Amino acid sequence: MRYDITNIAIEDYILDLMPARERTLAELEERARKTGLSLVGPVQGQFLYLQALLMGAQKALEVGITTGYAAIYLARALEQTDGHLTAIERHADRVELASQVIGQAGLSDRITIHQGDWTEVMPGLDHDFDLIFLDVLRSAANAGQATEALEMCVPLLRPGGVLIADNVLCSAQVLDEDAPPLVRGIQRFNQALMLHPQLESVIIPLRDGVAICRKK
Ligand SMILES: C[S@@+](CC[C@H](N)C(=O)[O-])C[C@H]1O[C@@H](n2cnc3c(N)ncnc32)[C@H](O)[C@@H]1O
Repeated sequence: MRYDITNIAIEDYILDLMPARERTLAELEERARKTGLSLVGPVQGQFLYLQALLMGAQKALEVGITTGYAAIYLARALEQTDGHLTAIERHADRVELASQVIGQAGLSDRITIHQGDWTEVMPGLDHDFDLIFLDVLRSAANAGQATEALEMCVPLLRPGGVLIADNVLCSAQVLDEDAPPLVRGIQRFNQALMLHPQLESVIIPLRDGVAICRKK
């Protein structure tokens, strides 16, 4: 999917500069073109990889794994610290697909996927994550669920840990004063993370909008 939040020609220019991807990632991109199954794409994938690498993350969580595309970028960074990625996905067929793909990438030992709804899985997870990638905001069940996710992520991060949330500009619909419930939820999420007493945050207009929050 293409987003027109900044300038689509600039987005394409940056995309064209990206080096060729490893085979598994390239195949997932092709699959996404055919099936519409969501993935962050190579620019944001590289962004996640570098964030994890720069902070030396060892323990990461991805909420919403789909095919495993972003997970592979994160795991390539975690390989370098002997770290581990925990992931959550509610659809059994996507868990199966992601597991296969992760196996092909040689990363099975590096990633554990929990099948279920994040609202049920997250409360049972260990604390002290270095990095959490929250990628379920566009599937929120109601206007309150995005901020609920934020409140669940903060205690799971170690001090100095980083939350990265995708789709926080929601195709620029956040500009809409009379937005539908899902977008209202994201507007509240954005206000909450900017004012959160435990977070230092910024929103970057990369692709569909990415928030980065450091826990104090
Ligand atoms: C935007 S996609 C994630 C794409 C993935 N992060 C990537 O870039 O490779 C969101 C995924 O979250 C899953 N999801 C949505 N709501 C969920 C929930 N309440 N609990 C668990 N998974 C959920 C969806 O099934 C979907 O596969």
